[in-house]
Amino acid sequence: MKWLVLLWLVALSECIVIMPLTKTKTMREILREKNLLNNFLEEQASRMSDDSASDPKLSTHPLRNALDMAYVGNVTIGTPPKEFRVVFDTGSSDLWVPSIKCISPACHTHITFDHHKSSTFRLTRRPFRILYGSGMMNGVLAYDTVRIGNLVSTDQPFGLSLQQFGFDNAPFDGVLGLSYPSLAVPGTIPIFDKLKQQGAISEPIFAFYLSTHKENGSVLMLGGVDHSYHKGKLNWIPVSQTKSWLITVDRISMNGKVIGCEHGCEALVDTGTSLIHGPAGPVSNIQKFIHAVPYDSEYMVSCPVISILPPVIFTINGIDYSVPAEAYIQKISNSLCLSSFHGDNTDKWILGDVFLRLYFSVYDRGNNRIGLAPAV
Ligand SMILES: *[C@@H]1O[C@H](CO)[C@@H](O)[C@H](O)[C@H]1NC(C)=O
Ligand SMILES: *[C@@H]1O[C@H](CO)[C@@H](O)[C@H](O)[C@H]1NC(C)=O
Repeated sequence: MKWLVLLWLVALSECIVIMPLTKTKTMREILREKNLLNNFLEEQASRMSDDSASDPKLSTHPLRNALDMAYVGNVTIGTPPKEFRVVFDTGSSDLWVPSIKCISPACHTHITFDHHKSSTFRLTRRPFRILYGSGMMNGVLAYDTVRIGNLVSTDQPFGLSLQQFGFDNAPFDGVLGLSYPSLAVPGTIPIFDKLKQQGAISEPIFAFYLSTHKENGSVLMLGGVDHSYHKGKLNWIPVSQTKSWLITVDRISMNGKVIGCEHGCEALVDTGTSLIHGPAGPVSNIQKFIHAVPYDSEYMVSCPVISILPPVIFTINGIDYSVPAEAYIQKISNSLCLSSFHGDNTDKWILGDVFLRLYFSVYDRGNNRIGLAPAV
């Protein structure tokens, strides 16, 4: 099942911004850069003299693992604060929750926002619409105070959903996107960028630890990294373009044989997607290698083969990331096991929660790179 495969290709092609190739630096800019550099050097020096590994501005936020299908955390919106459950999604950039005016069935079973009850609320007439691979929301752009734990973003743009589908049984009310501003609804600023702007976050970095088969224990870290959640050092991978959390995969193999992505491929690192998605052709090839057969709209595997199938290896930036059979096959019941590979009508891959439970992930906006290391 997939909750949130953002149709990010659509989003990417919607607005094309042409940037000037060169730009002359003014003296002010040069000074500002020098200043930044000085601050950076000072920061490094103070960090080296201070042996306590944890960043004082690092904020950790608990997430609930909803049956290994979605990781959901609380945020509040408005004054007084109203609590919502949201998916923290690295595949999209917008925040939205259902409005009390929403007429869709999904809105009757989820928490809705009553804008008359917030003293800091500001409404616009601008439409706010997002398409996901698994649904859509249609509403209006609004502004209010949004809190993630102790981090406060005032006058934060967000969407109020008036109509939505694909979210009827979702274990969350809305979505909070953590991708780049270029994916956001035009003219709005994502919450992470706003928090950074308002000085709530010292370093433009966040990280996810996703627990396996356990409701508690998953965390989102904002503003820094708690290294006790991973083993060994982080391997850094540059993002392909500074538009989304997209990276290049060298190849996908099993037992030393390439089974997909022969000539390299692009993959979105996406906390909002449950499974591993890929182009239909290569994925159906992988289904053959893991002895999966079509079943309903999914692929089924005989459960006992889990213990004999070799791992699937994703080689990224020269490093092998092994995904064992017990991760790429999900045991639904004792007699029903489903493949975690899902074919789409696209040329891109998506490394979703199946992959991110195995590998702790760090998203570094300052250096446009993703860090991966085996999760504890
Ligand atoms: C979110 O808030 C609810 C109620 O306030 C609480 O029961 C739940 O544990 C919270 N979820 C997380 C992941 O902290
Ligand atoms: C998870 O944590 C909540 C509150 O912190 C607690 O009530 C619940 O029993 C825990 N669940 C499990 C499965 O440990």
